[in-house]
Amino acid sequence: MTSLATTDSFVPAADAGDTSSLDIRPVVLTGDRTTGPLHLGHYVGSLRARVELQHRADQFLLLADLQAMTDNAGRHQKVTENVFEVALDYLAAGIDPSLSTLFIQSQVPELAELSLLLMNYVTVSRLERNPTIREEIRQRGFERDIPAGFLAYPVSQAADIAAFRAQLVPVGDDQRPMIEQTNELVQRFNASVDKQVLVSCQALLSRTGRLPGLDGKAKMSKSLGNSLALGATAADIRKAVNRMYTDDKHLRVEDPGQVEGNVVFAFLDAFDPETAQVDELKAHYRRGGLGDSVLKRRLEAILQDTMAPIRQRREALSAERGYLRDVLRAGTLRARERAASTLGDVRRALGLTYFD
Ligand code: TRP
Repeated sequence: MTSLATTDSFVPAADAGDTSSLDIRPVVLTGDRTTGPLHLGHYVGSLRARVELQHRADQFLLLADLQAMTDNAGRHQKVTENVFEVALDYLAAGIDPSLSTLFIQSQVPELAELSLLLMNYVTVSRLERNPTIREEIRQRGFERDIPAGFLAYPVSQAADIAAFRAQLVPVGDDQRPMIEQTNELVQRFNASVDKQVLVSCQALLSRTGRLPGLDGKAKMSKSLGNSLALGATAADIRKAVNRMYTDDKHLRVEDPGQVEGNVVFAFLDAFDPETAQVDELKAHYRRGGLGDSVLKRRLEAILQDTMAPIRQRREALSAERGYLRDVLRAGTLRARERAASTLGDVRRALGLTYFD
């Protein structure tokens, strides 16, 4: 292939001086509900991967305020107040607004429109079968009083993804059913208009999987009170490590200890770059003779080092409301252009073009 043909057939990335930029950059979209500041679970589960991905992909990061409202009717203030908090967490963790597009879901009305259109391609019983939704209904005690918007939020999430023609969606394991439902909707829609208007996507799961809560419960979550915020102070970090669940039966240093379900080891797996040393520590712990406090001091040192620059950036940026607003406004504008272009195709495919 001649170099001319290469440049003709590929979309060059932003940095045209770099030959690797002749590859097509995948479109990545992901986001978070804006119900509170993010914690380490988000960092390990997805945020860390996004910081790497932004160099290789055309990445869109969605502040999902509308999705957050689906189970927060009456608490809209909590949702809107946390839009800037989550944006702060993104930037503090290393998201660079010149590489990633940050935007606010509610300010891209095309997403609401696509969501409403896609609603016709799913049945209520299919929505009720989504395992993540079922679990969340149980957790929130909705039982028979399920807000319709909540039951249908997977459709809105599918619209978020499809409107950007995103190919990759970095999410936690619990979001896998959402990706499955997105692809079902995309296929149904395309089949019904007999045209490949929308594209299917793939979940991108994190290497380390889900970080457990400090108490050893399966999931780190702010509402369960077992999380450590990304912006935590040095004292918060120390306290969190000290209260981490290890092994109930590991009472004396000489006793053999259990590694599985041990939160300190789960964190070491997620944060300690010296994996061979961690393996040795695990073997030692299992044999007995290794105290929890040795492990906890090691982990604390690593967490302090990892989190200090994040906290410092977060503090510095939180004084820059104007800058943050500019970043979100510019990102939202860019996001809207992309979504509007897809919606143009969707409307044409459905014949919703009365005034064209
Ligand atoms: N459901 C995600 C969460 O719980 C947030 C979200 C909204 C999202 N729309 C998305 C994630 C689209 C990935 C893609 O935080």
